[in-house]
Amino acid sequence: MVAVAILAAGKGTRMRSDLPKVLHRLGGKSLLEWVLTSLADIQLARRLVIVGYRSDLVCEALAHSVTAAGHPPLEFVEQTEQLGTGHAVQQLLPHLQGFTGDLLILNGDVPLLRTATLSHLLQIHRDRGNPATILTAHVPVPKGYGRVFCDSQNLLQQIVEDRDCTDAQKQNRRINAGVYCFHWPDLAAVLPQLKSENDQKEYYLTDAVNFLSPVNVVDVEDYREILGVNDRKQLATAYTILQTRIKDDWMQRGVTFIDPDSTTIDDTVQLETDVVVEPQTHLRGQTLIQAGSRIGPGSLIENSQIGKNVTVMFSVVLNSRVADGTRVGPYAHLRGGVETGTGCRIGNFVELKNTKLGDRTNVAHLSYLGDTTTGNQVNIGAGTITANYDGVNKHPTILGDRVKTGANTVLVAPLTIGSDVTIAAGSAVTENAPDDCLIIARSRQVIKPGWRLQSSSAADPKSADPK
Ligand code: UD1
Ligand code: CA
Repeated sequence: MVAVAILAAGKGTRMRSDLPKVLHRLGGKSLLEWVLTSLADIQLARRLVIVGYRSDLVCEALAHSVTAAGHPPLEFVEQTEQLGTGHAVQQLLPHLQGFTGDLLILNGDVPLLRTATLSHLLQIHRDRGNPATILTAHVPVPKGYGRVFCDSQNLLQQIVEDRDCTDAQKQNRRINAGVYCFHWPDLAAVLPQLKSENDQKEYYLTDAVNFLSPVNVVDVEDYREILGVNDRKQLATAYTILQTRIKDDWMQRGVTFIDPDSTTIDDTVQLETDVVVEPQTHLRGQTLIQAGSRIGPGSLIENSQIGKNVTVMFSVVLNSRVADGTRVGPYAHLRGGVETGTGCRIGNFVELKNTKLGDRTNVAHLSYLGDTTTGNQVNIGAGTITANYDGVNKHPTILGDRVKTGANTVLVAPLTIGSDVTIAAGSAVTENAPDDCLIIARSRQVIKPGWRLQSSSAADPKSADPK
């Protein structure tokens, strides 16, 4: 039986932030959510999270996070004073009384662990049957990490924190990843013996490991998995590692990135084969891009579904659905629940908000449609604007099939226009209209034959005869 405890009570002083460190975001999730995600494939009996600094915020944030199916609920254990990682684990003693299984302990600030790594650690722990097994890595820059010293049989001798290391010890690049598996009764027995006789005057979990023997050491294959996030620089490094991992994975599955380094993708995004992601493109949240679509350059897509063979160029699409074969951009903005039909064209400087377009409908230039529903094969002329807001409320505009609005039409909502209606350029349409008609809603042009400015006073507009 395996329980997990995640250490998330620290403030994260080195982040220099009001937000608890474990709530800082990496892609679409907080560090703590990443840690929970790394447990996805592990059969757990209990999930404990040790909280302290701004615990209300941490509990609240996790209340909204998605929980992998089949996992037990989170139990929050309060560490009111943060006196170190060992002190944090001491708080578990009353909660795990009588528990005789294994306890996996993870630092809440180590977000990139793979679930396979944890399974491997657990497997070795079970096979050896020792009191503890810890995860280690050989890292190029070990500064800040506890150093791991082993004997010739690769059994742990001791972990020494960076700030307690001698200069010679600091040369050791084998570090403690902050990922441990303990036989809980063995750990529970040594926890009360911890002392805070170290540079930080804290109770170290690593000292509890030092009290146990024999302790197995498992090296992680790729040290980038165990990067701890203590400051903003490490947060940025973790983001780069995560991005490389996500993009490499999609490339293996048949997605092209023209310039991967200039593109960012949340791990919640889904891409189908033959999607091409152009440079400077950012895909976020619950986004799906279907086969054959080309996104970018210079686009942001968030929480949106993009159908097959769509192109989106230099545009922003938020919380919307773009159906197959539609072309978006350059410089379009779709937001607030837009749904396009298939084969639409949404062109330059067009903003669509909470708008549904029928199939093969074009809004090609310089338009704003808000709270609008169109039929199929509608053509929205350049500069058509819905006046959907009267200063207090928003109102809908409904356009039937094959409506054509002339350039610079203003559609004053609420408004319902039938099918096969043509609207003359420059109209301010304020009244509903039936099927099959022409709407002209503008003042008539006046032509005055022979009128011209008096030539003697042409230079002075005030004296021109207005007639
Ligand atoms: C710790 C390890 C170090 C290891 C490194 C790996 C100790 C003493 N050192 O160092 O050997 O190389 O992680 O990343 O354990 N926390 C609490 N309560 C506390 C203090 C911390 O819950 O009183 C939590 C923090 O929120 C954090 C985690 O424990 O999520 C680790 O604490 P941190 O201070 O970052 O430890 P490191 O100095 O990184
Ligand atoms: Ca840390």
